[in-house]
Amino acid sequence: MHGKTRVLFSVSEIYPLVKTGGLADVGYSLPHALHRVGAEVRVVMPAYRVALAQAQAMRVLAWTEVQGAGRMHNVRILEVQQEGFAFPLWLVDCAELYDRPGNPYMQPDGHDWPDNAERFTVLARVTVALATDALELGWRADVVHANDWQTGLVPALLSELPERPKSVFTIHNLSFGGHFGPDQFYRLGLPRHWWAVDSVEFYGGFSMLKAGIVYADEVTTVSPTYAHEICTSDAGYGLQGVLQVSRHKLHGILNGIDETLWDPETDVFLSAHYSARRRQPGKALNKQALLRQFDMHGGESAQQVPLVGMVGRLVEQKGIDLVLAALPDWFTRTQARFVIVGSGQAHFEQQLRELAALHPQRLGVYIGYDEMLAHLVEAGADMFLMPSRFEPCGLNQMYSLRYGTPPIVYRTGGLADTVFDASDGHVDEGIANGFVFDELSPHGLSDALDRALACYAQPRRWHALVRTGMNQSFGWEHSAMTYLALYHGQPVMMNE
Ligand code: ADP
Ligand code: GLC
Repeated sequence: MHGKTRVLFSVSEIYPLVKTGGLADVGYSLPHALHRVGAEVRVVMPAYRVALAQAQAMRVLAWTEVQGAGRMHNVRILEVQQEGFAFPLWLVDCAELYDRPGNPYMQPDGHDWPDNAERFTVLARVTVALATDALELGWRADVVHANDWQTGLVPALLSELPERPKSVFTIHNLSFGGHFGPDQFYRLGLPRHWWAVDSVEFYGGFSMLKAGIVYADEVTTVSPTYAHEICTSDAGYGLQGVLQVSRHKLHGILNGIDETLWDPETDVFLSAHYSARRRQPGKALNKQALLRQFDMHGGESAQQVPLVGMVGRLVEQKGIDLVLAALPDWFTRTQARFVIVGSGQAHFEQQLRELAALHPQRLGVYIGYDEMLAHLVEAGADMFLMPSRFEPCGLNQMYSLRYGTPPIVYRTGGLADTVFDASDGHVDEGIANGFVFDELSPHGLSDALDRALACYAQPRRWHALVRTGMNQSFGWEHSAMTYLALYHGQPVMMNE
């Protein structure tokens, strides 16, 4: 490759235009990190209604026709110059497929959009056209970097071409497979020879995630531990066999965080700032603001009693059921207060609301999505709960560490790679930064919370723990260099 490596990054969500979780944070921050280490980056995503509403300067780059499910679509490629973006963003504009309210994947009633197979096949086809300069824009990619099932067909479609850019496919979450039936396969006009066990066929249907794994030149996932876990039947979702035979090209590369957006010294969502060197009064002021948000600032001791925060999708993956099972016991046995911000499955939302109504001074709940509140919880809580059953990488625990809010996590995936337990000795040695438990049950979690509360009661130990986390570096630079090495076909040595 000569000069700068040209990378087309294809992804289904990008902060701040559209975000349902950590994928959007990575969709923003990884391309920027690649740009900083010298790649020439373009990013492509569907022009969802919410994204168009926020897009700033925009021009039409090209018109094209793209094959959908038994029909052709007229598609425009929009180039967006967005404040905060170091390079142009390409949006795939097709009103029939993307101009809809709400979530990129789900209807307002919580069911998947029925034409998701078509919506993301069109995204994949346009990605390939842009990468190979089939639209004659004068830009051709050396590498296409696709992400999760929504872009899984990209490496597969590229593999059909005689001359093509290299493909890298990143798995952010193996539990979303992009599985569809044979009817869709034929209507989408996908190559017949893909209907095979060593291709995209999967239990009588086909899997877009499997397509990415099988056909990409390199497959990565977002932490070294998760790279191991997904090769086992416990975490492989039926794809462990394919992943095992792909082991030679599977790499675990830990996500970074955007250290500008998530910095307690400058965070635009906070009114009080602080740093590792000078935590107070900033941290305490955020705690006050957070307690006030939830009307939990009553009582003289409100500021003194430990405040435990949690932010996340309210689904089983995140262990919210364990928290719900343990909370009543925590209310009786401890003094701690809790704030939980999230949205997800209706029955978890409902149980949280009911519990908060019963214990308004002990539990504050916000059901919904609120970026400001997510930052305030990281800054204002004393400790952060993240008992995920599985966690490919997890960003929230890294945000917590940076904000001086030690995380309490189950030993899995990226949590195991970033959080080090405060067992005796480790705190003084400056190794420990949080609390890790091994028994996935309300009891295992309670045990870890008890240890965290006991540590909190010993200010010297607690401050040492907080300081270790705040002084760590979670930036992208190392991982971005690793991706660059992978793009260049150089050996990557971090996944064993
Ligand atoms: P996942 O991608 O599995 O949801 P991560 O920890 O990687 O988990 O990333 C979650 C991201 O989504 C974080 O930036 C977090 O702050 C954000 N987030 C999750 N739920 C909410 C919410 N209800 N309101 C605001 N931000 C949220
Ligand atoms: C997924 C995973 C999460 C990861 C994020 C970004 O949503 O669930 O663990 O941090 O992707 O890679």
